[in-house]
Amino acid sequence: MNHLVAPSILAADFANLQRDIEMINNSEADWIHVDIMDGMFVPNISFGFPVVSAVNKHATKPLDVHLMIVDPDRYLKNFKDAGASGITVHYEACPHLHRTIQYIKELGCRAGVALNPATPVALLKDIIRDLDMVLIMSVNPGFGGQKFIENTYKKVFDIKELSFKHNTDLFIEVDGGIDTENAPKLVIEGANVFVAGSSVFSAPDPIVAISSLKHAGVVSRS
Ligand code: DX5
Ligand code: ZN
Repeated sequence: MNHLVAPSILAADFANLQRDIEMINNSEADWIHVDIMDGMFVPNISFGFPVVSAVNKHATKPLDVHLMIVDPDRYLKNFKDAGASGITVHYEACPHLHRTIQYIKELGCRAGVALNPATPVALLKDIIRDLDMVLIMSVNPGFGGQKFIENTYKKVFDIKELSFKHNTDLFIEVDGGIDTENAPKLVIEGANVFVAGSSVFSAPDPIVAISSLKHAGVVSRS
C-alpha cells in the first residue's frame, strides 16, 4: 500500500481555516488530521465540535480525528456527527479499550488507538485484531512543532511485526515532528500514514510540502 498523508490543521491559520482546508482539498493529501485536546489528558486545549463541523463543511477529504481527551466514550457520537471518518483514542485514556473500540466501529468510523512515546507496542497484542489503525506518537502529545523522538523507528518496526502476525490491513500512522527527512525511514520500518502539521503549514508552499511527503521515497537502511 502506498502511504497516506494527513496534514494536521492544528498548525493551520484558525482565522483562515476555510482557505487552509481548501488548500488541503487541492493537494495530494489523503486525510485531514484533526487534533482534539481537553487540557486534562494533555496540557493544552485545541477546539471542539463546532469547529470540526465547520471544517467538515468545506473538506472534501475524510476527517481523521485524534482525541487527546480523558474518557473519550462520552463524546464519540458527537465527533461522528461532526463529521469524523476515523476516530483515534489514546490507550492511556481508556480503561475499557475493547468497549471503546467496539463503540467507534458501531458508529461506522475507522477505529484507531494512539500510543504515547513511553507506552510499549506490546500492550496492544490482545486488541490488535479489532483495530483499523495504530497511531504511534513520535512526540509527547499536546503541541505541534516538537522534535521527533528517535525511538519511534523501533516502535513502528514493533507494531509492523505485530500486524504481520495478527492484522495485515492495519494502518500504522505516525504523528509528531514528521518531515521529508524521517518519513522515508519510517516507511522502511512499516509506517503507512503520516501526520504533519508544522512541516506542511510553515513551508513556503504547503501544497509542495504535502506532495514531497506523499512521494517521500524508500531509502536504504544506513
Ligand atoms: C500533537 C498532535 C499532532 C500535531 C503534529 O499532539 O497530535 O497531530 O499537530 O504537529 P507537528 O507535525 O508540528 O509535530
Ligand atoms: Zn495528532
